[in-house]
Amino acid sequence: MNLKIALLAGDGIGPEVILQAKKALYAIGVVYDHEFVFEDAFVGAIAIEKTGNPLPEQTLNLCLNTDAVLFGAIGDPKYDNDPDSKVRPEQGLLKLRKELGLFANIRPIKPYDSLLDSSPLKRKIIEGADFIIFRELTGGVYFGEKKLNEAGTFASDLCEYSEEEISRITHLAFKSAQKRRKKVTLVDKANVLETSRLWRKVVKKVAEDYPEVILDFLFVDNAAMQIILNPKQFDVILTENLFGDILSDEASVITGSIGLLASASLGHTNALFEPIHGSYPQATGKNIANPIASILSAAMLLEHFGLHKEAKKVYEAVEKAIEDNAVTVDLKSDSKFGTNEVGDFIANFILNKDDLYFK
Ligand code: IPM
Ligand code: MN
Repeated sequence: MNLKIALLAGDGIGPEVILQAKKALYAIGVVYDHEFVFEDAFVGAIAIEKTGNPLPEQTLNLCLNTDAVLFGAIGDPKYDNDPDSKVRPEQGLLKLRKELGLFANIRPIKPYDSLLDSSPLKRKIIEGADFIIFRELTGGVYFGEKKLNEAGTFASDLCEYSEEEISRITHLAFKSAQKRRKKVTLVDKANVLETSRLWRKVVKKVAEDYPEVILDFLFVDNAAMQIILNPKQFDVILTENLFGDILSDEASVITGSIGLLASASLGHTNALFEPIHGSYPQATGKNIANPIASILSAAMLLEHFGLHKEAKKVYEAVEKAIEDNAVTVDLKSDSKFGTNEVGDFIANFILNKDDLYFK
């Protein structure tokens, strides 16, 4: 297969982890005889530095005209510490999601057996947990009208959802549940928010098309508690943009490190794959960031294009790295493996090299 992949490494540790995902894809290309053509482009703080725009026209055009986007990370403390800044790195990612129509963000959560004791949560709570968060990605408070009065003393962010925005991701969530344990949990705040009440109405209606799937509801405050109290109860969690953002970081605790969680952002015509973690500025350039979330995002990319045995190979390689302690310091505090060495280990496994270890 020929695939053109836009590489948007972004900020902070983005370039370091994306390089490892590229190595894994390159190895898959060699072994399974695919041609992956990579093209790099700027996004985020680095793009602001170079062009003044967090999503330069050239980057957007590349992403619109490519098979898939592999995204690193975005954000820079310089902007976090300057609330008055009008241009912000995150605008690059948000605009990209909107322009590419990436309305569904899919975040699988499943702990690795050999890491069950790496989570601060008890083994008996997390063993066997396996769920997916379907996070709506182009609506809600992220994209509603924003206001700040002249005096800078009053601000508002509008939360809006339409029936169409809710139903299209709901169909994807139910289709996924059909192939899994056949349960969808809608997480909302329907006791307070009008948008949540619309979600309930629309989701109930869509659910009628999937009679074999059980639908249940949880208020988001309770869901936040249930995710760490009894994560095994979940199969597919369906939720709006902001709740999904928050709950997926929380859920990463189950796996032992946020550096393990990958995601796919899908629309009708475009697809983007990205780790759920941020740009981790403190680690930039230190070769300590965990590349596995990026490598697993590449695996999700392969799956998206129906390359299942190739994706499986990447999952196997990641499992082998974890089993053999070929992991970064977030997972093993005295590890000698850096970002690059973990990436090499995984690429070498895929290439079937005899010697997986760095010297
Ligand atoms: C994520 C990130 C983004 C989000 C930021 C960087 C805008 O936290 O992908 O989860 O809030 O969606
Ligand atoms: Mn987030």
